[in-house]
Amino acid sequence: DLPSKVKIVEVGPRDGLQNEKAMVSTATKIELIHRLGEAGLSVIEATAFVSPKWVPQMGDATDVMTRIERRDGVTYPVLTPNIKGLEAAISAGATEVAVFGSASESFSQKNINCSIDESLKRFRPVITAARKNNIAVRGYVSCVLGCPYEGDIAPEKVAEVAKALFDMGCYEVSLGDTIGTGTPVKAQNMVAAVARHIPVEKLAAHFHDTYGQALANLLAVLQMGIATIDSSVAGLGGCPYAQGASGNVATEDVVYMLNGLGIESGVNLEKLVETGHWICSRVGRPSASKAQLAISAH
Ligand code: HMG
Ligand code: MG
Repeated sequence: DLPSKVKIVEVGPRDGLQNEKAMVSTATKIELIHRLGEAGLSVIEATAFVSPKWVPQMGDATDVMTRIERRDGVTYPVLTPNIKGLEAAISAGATEVAVFGSASESFSQKNINCSIDESLKRFRPVITAARKNNIAVRGYVSCVLGCPYEGDIAPEKVAEVAKALFDMGCYEVSLGDTIGTGTPVKAQNMVAAVARHIPVEKLAAHFHDTYGQALANLLAVLQMGIATIDSSVAGLGGCPYAQGASGNVATEDVVYMLNGLGIESGVNLEKLVETGHWICSRVGRPSASKAQLAISAH
């Protein structure tokens, strides 16, 4: 059975831009967030309070968070890998944050410079402090359908890390196919393993489209009851610690598919397509969204 409504978590301003080599101006990031809000996205991951030595593009996190005009009914989560990031996020007025772990040891080391166990120990005080401040915490698990360094990842390992994040107080756990190697049945088996420990309505699908499988994988997990999808306008993005990985599934393509399935998302596809066109011209790359190309050609 398919859900009647899907919540889209737009990650373009963060996941979409974090890997851009040329600095994108703070003003462009802010305008992108505003345009996405106007297009009807109700969750917009705005930036990341990470080390600027690790991810220079997110070095203006405080400026972005303090200068955006927040719309009623829209939340603007940000990534916070540690207490330092959380404190900066709180100072900048964040009301929702996300911690990000991995189901792969090697990726954990490359991405956040510590083991999976160490990361979970580090997240606990972040989650506790956030919740004391009435800040909701989302959890990410990376490499759920494969790792750039280790290859296959056991669904049980994904479930173990996801459960740890959920038990520590994350209200939702987003399952990241960081390198987009997953295929539909593999995605279903992974979700089934996680759903043995966490209610499926608390899970989100965060699929990258490197092999063109993201929409197929999404449909496969929508059929299992997943009703939260992470996507990036124009399919922008990639991960600095997963070379060759392309962006998230394009939000335009997700909305087109949901519209066709009669599933409500609250997003205005035309406004979103305009926004995709605009940000691509700003960062000087072609859109990875097929829907945007088709609609713009009319
Ligand atoms: P570290 O080097 O082990 O940290 O990095 P440290 O505590 O030793 O600190 C080193 C320096 O960084 C110090 O500065 C700290 O102050 C500073 P120095 O004294 O040398 O001048 N620092 C910070 N600065 C600003 N904000 C902070 C912060 N923390 C320390 N929060 C650390 C560990 C986690 C900080 C680092 O590895 C890091 O920032 N990693 C982030 C990597 C990242 O953002 N990756 C992309 C996002 S994850 C992703 O894309 C996957 C996802 O989309 C899901 C999927 O697709 O699967 C979520
Ligand atoms: Mg990602």
